[in-house]
Amino acid sequence: MRSVTYGTEVPLACSTQDTCAKFYAAIKPKISGVKRQMPNIEAETANGIVAFEAPKNKKLVLAIEDEGIDILHRCGGNARCTTCRVEILSGDPGDMGELERNRLAIETDLAANVRLSCQIRIIDDLKVHVINQASVRGMDPGPRPLDD
Ligand code: FES
Repeated sequence: MRSVTYGTEVPLACSTQDTCAKFYAAIKPKISGVKRQMPNIEAETANGIVAFEAPKNKKLVLAIEDEGIDILHRCGGNARCTTCRVEILSGDPGDMGELERNRLAIETDLAANVRLSCQIRIIDDLKVHVINQASVRGMDPGPRPLDD
């Protein structure tokens, strides 16, 4: 069997429990620092917590909707309605753009951790609370925001 050296010699392929155990013991320190490609999103909804992975740079509102959560987005993702608002419970949602900042400045009763999910591009793991759902509010969610 061919082998490779990762600080210690390990087999390139494992065919027995023993060679597999040696392989993973040797390779584990090398791969443990490798960053995951897809951030983890945890969304608190009216129906419980939904956990999923989402691609970096995807709009948060679309990632939430694509997991079957009926989040409202009544203005189609144009930072006008604020129905797509989420509470950021943990994680980095990125900087707020001018559109979002100006729109949220009009709302005086929102907590500081409330953001517009249509304006957030996913950059890291996030835990959020989805504030408005179509099934709870009894209304149509609105036009799907563009993924531009
Ligand atoms: S502000 Fe309307 S969908 Fe985000």
